[in-house]
Amino acid sequence: MILYFTGTGNSRFAAQELNRFCKDELVSMNREMRKRKLDPYNARYAYTSEKPFVIVCPTYCWNIPRVVEEFLLDSRFLVSRDMYFLLTCGSSTGQAGKRAAQICDTLLLNFRGQASVRMPENYISLFRAPEPDEAVAIIRSALPLIESVGMQIVANRYIKDSFSGRDVPAFVVNSFYKHFVHDRKFYVKDNCIGCSACAQLCPTVNIRMRGGKPEWQGHCTQCQSCIGVCPADAIEFGGRTRKKRRYYLFADGRQKFPPEKRKEPESKSESGHVRRL
Ligand SMILES: Cc1cc2nc3c(=O)[nH]c(=O)nc-3n(C[C@H](O)[C@H](O)[C@H](O)COP(=O)(O)O)c2cc1C
Repeated sequence: MILYFTGTGNSRFAAQELNRFCKDELVSMNREMRKRKLDPYNARYAYTSEKPFVIVCPTYCWNIPRVVEEFLLDSRFLVSRDMYFLLTCGSSTGQAGKRAAQICDTLLLNFRGQASVRMPENYISLFRAPEPDEAVAIIRSALPLIESVGMQIVANRYIKDSFSGRDVPAFVVNSFYKHFVHDRKFYVKDNCIGCSACAQLCPTVNIRMRGGKPEWQGHCTQCQSCIGVCPADAIEFGGRTRKKRRYYLFADGRQKFPPEKRKEPESKSESGHVRRL
């Protein structure tokens, strides 16, 4: 079973690619998380698979995102005792593999290794996302690695990460969450069309629509899905995101374009597609 968490689509894309080789059940942790918040008595907490469990998610502060960690620790994994991790990142996954091994230990599962794959940077609250063509090139160059990870999982081999992760002290991660992981600076501009795409997508159910506009509720995980997916590019995070390109990769490999450029592309290379399904 492949369980993926994604903010802006990179990890969903990686999970889908991986599944071309694993041919397994694909489960969206985002959907499961929302269900646990919105309908906790009918949500799923136990996952059964004869094949190994594979967790695909982004890297947050050189680590497994806390929201994913909490999800895994609140879940039960039945039948297979093996768990793999595939982390997408903008540049480095640091010590995420170490944390993944600890999570498996707590869950009494066998840690079968972690792989890191570089995908386009999505963290526009702090950095910049690559331009569409560059993003396509980055994603294309990730494909052979994802394929090799898939082959190793199918062969039931232990995965040794090819990235060299440096150790990140706990206080760095703690202060990252304290100072950067919050929603206090999110606001919406007048061009918001009130479509509620942000609220419907938010994995932590942190956005409520009031008077047709989104309002953040104080338990944000900074996944960037709201700011990335907004069709009007109406969401900002303080002054940091002003005039920056938004990044969102749809399930079919298409990138989101800003409203003014959203016309039918004349050629394949203009489309920002990684592949056409
Ligand atoms: C809050 C946050 C923290 C991040 N921290 C890191 C990091 O420590 N190292 C890194 O290489 N990329 C980091 N990134 C970039 C993402 O891991 C990367 O773009 C990932 O592919 C996004 O996946 P997604 O689209 O599935 O959410 C961070 C992104 C966010 C939103």
